[in-house]
Amino acid sequence: MKDIILKKFVEVFGDAGDARAYFAPGRVNLIGEHTDYNGGHVFPCALTIGTYGVARRRTDNKLRFFSMNFERLGVIESSLEELVPSQGAGWTNYPKGVMWAFGEKGMKIPCGMDLLLNGNIPNGSGLSSSASVEVLTGHILRDFFGFDVSNQDLALIGQYAENHFNKVNCGIMDQFAIAMGKADHAIFLDTADLSYEYAPIALKGAKIVIACSNKKRGLGDSKYNERRSECEAALAELKQVTEIDSLGDLDEEAFEKYKSAIQDEVRVRRAKHAVYENQRTIRAVKALKANDVEQFGQLMNASHVSLRDDYEVTGVELDTLVEEAWKIDGVIGSRMTGAGFGGCTVSIVKDEAIDTFIEKVGTAYKEKIGYAADFYVVEIGDGPRSL
Ligand code: GLA
Repeated sequence: MKDIILKKFVEVFGDAGDARAYFAPGRVNLIGEHTDYNGGHVFPCALTIGTYGVARRRTDNKLRFFSMNFERLGVIESSLEELVPSQGAGWTNYPKGVMWAFGEKGMKIPCGMDLLLNGNIPNGSGLSSSASVEVLTGHILRDFFGFDVSNQDLALIGQYAENHFNKVNCGIMDQFAIAMGKADHAIFLDTADLSYEYAPIALKGAKIVIACSNKKRGLGDSKYNERRSECEAALAELKQVTEIDSLGDLDEEAFEKYKSAIQDEVRVRRAKHAVYENQRTIRAVKALKANDVEQFGQLMNASHVSLRDDYEVTGVELDTLVEEAWKIDGVIGSRMTGAGFGGCTVSIVKDEAIDTFIEKVGTAYKEKIGYAADFYVVEIGDGPRSL
């Protein structure tokens, strides 16, 4: 890949000069969905697929961007004086947002750059292509200009850019999973205080399979922010009757005791998901540590049911992929992953069942939905790096 992107860089920007090549992964969340903005736990991992980039410093303040995933857009030009979000700027709002966020944190970028990207994560699919671009940009800025930032800082800066530049109120999970990724490990992160632990994922005789629904979604135009507000409102109501900082502070028993404080049936279900999903995530990691992959799979399934019925973020595409997966022998667990409303599912599938899984789920999906899903057997990879 390095050769391909360097060659393309020369083709697009004239010469390579002192250009350098980089990579940042995508991520998949195994369990703990819509808990990261509720002070709960998540359990994501970085993937070996992600975003490749080539960057070169300029002597002026110009920024020139080119994405091999959006070739038809050609070279998009901007400058360090124009770090404001704009609709026409498309994907460049992500690297620009990170450059802006570095400035906000007191790290002034001394010169412009030419940046070429090529991602092999499907865009807008719930595998965090945007967070991957954000962390990649942060890594490049650190490498170029020697900013004293840790990988965890890169995650926080990426989230800051997403929240305040791109105006998507996301939690920390995606950027954290990408910036802190470790091969063959998932990250058990407590979003209440960012304490975390790496858990080895050794699925003897099974693999992680991602099914992409090909139903596109953008977080900004989805109901993501609405779910966040519903949880905030439920939390405010619960705070009237019990001393908590976030929904993640409650276990199931405490939630059942206090839930009558929530004045609206829909909000009760939203908060219930956040509380129960957090507890499921804690239990799932325990099960995995005890080598009980079956139990882990059942908790994944329960997570999907809760996201479908209580949180209502699945939709017919994701439900079809998951419900068809559940029918197949050798599927240990299957659920939607990421924000939902389209995007991908994640399944743990025994090696000998993978071909059948792809064929049967693929056929049933196409029959019901009218277009095809894509399948990826993935591996867990490391965080951002220079190539
Ligand atoms: C998106 C957000 C994350 C998280 C998930 C849902 O991926 O970016 O912060 O909230 O949705 O778990």
